[in-house]
Amino acid sequence: MTPKHPIGVFDSGVGGLTVLKEIRRELPAEDLLYVADSGHAPYGDKSPALIEARAVVLTEFLIGQGAKAVVVACNTATGAAARLLRSRYPVPIIAMEPAVKPAVELSRSGVIGVLATRATLASHSFSVLLARVSAEARTQILLQPCPGLVERIEAGDLDGDYTRALLAHYLRPVLERGADSIVLGCTHYPYLRSLIGELAGPGVAVLDSGVAVARQVRRRLETSGLLAPAGRCGTERFWTSAHPAAGWGLVSRLWEAPVTLAPLPDDPAEGRLPRGCT
Ligand code: DGL
Repeated sequence: MTPKHPIGVFDSGVGGLTVLKEIRRELPAEDLLYVADSGHAPYGDKSPALIEARAVVLTEFLIGQGAKAVVVACNTATGAAARLLRSRYPVPIIAMEPAVKPAVELSRSGVIGVLATRATLASHSFSVLLARVSAEARTQILLQPCPGLVERIEAGDLDGDYTRALLAHYLRPVLERGADSIVLGCTHYPYLRSLIGELAGPGVAVLDSGVAVARQVRRRLETSGLLAPAGRCGTERFWTSAHPAAGWGLVSRLWEAPVTLAPLPDDPAEGRLPRGCT
């Protein structure tokens, strides 16, 4: 691997673009590869075995494309697969951590809410994070799974009536119990930030981990001697496991520039799973 190799980034769909944007801001000279696994989204209600199998397929694809590091821009895939990916592949694997600690530090009411997928909230890595943060603070941490939200975002509905109603339904119990900080524990949810602000009001802070992960990518590349030489303009390449013609408009809209979206080649539809595993 050399500094000139690209950074690979993947998510269950378009959510990881929120992280990719921060990586682009932090590291303008790097070439970036992005895979949206939209053909298999959402991950949040799938089994850990299936999510892990998809994470392996996508990581191997990115490494096959020359990735010098892989960013798991998905909290759900982090919970299911980060440990395995780190043990199996020689490149730096950078993964998500919901911003629970900064939210606890920020909270004045002593109550925070975490919005995430069911799979993330049930994962071992999330319970380790909770135990670590709870041991240091007396903050009440309310966990709110949000099934259906990722599907709304994958459908491009960021502020329609149904998305608004679903989000209001998930926010209500958290806000009623006095949360003054909301942690976005899913990389799709930053696309709902302005709607959350509108529903929760100005006194409630909304935190995600995109900037922290981008800084972590920089640190890992620096310590591995893999940072791209400054003074050049990095490029981006995009793939999807769904039909590119169906996904192109949304990826371009969220990336805020027209992109070329290629089909993920040789995609074993269910990852490498034993038959019958869902
Ligand atoms: N962006 C993924 C995450 O951060 C969404 C998971 C899903 O597809 O349900 O968890």
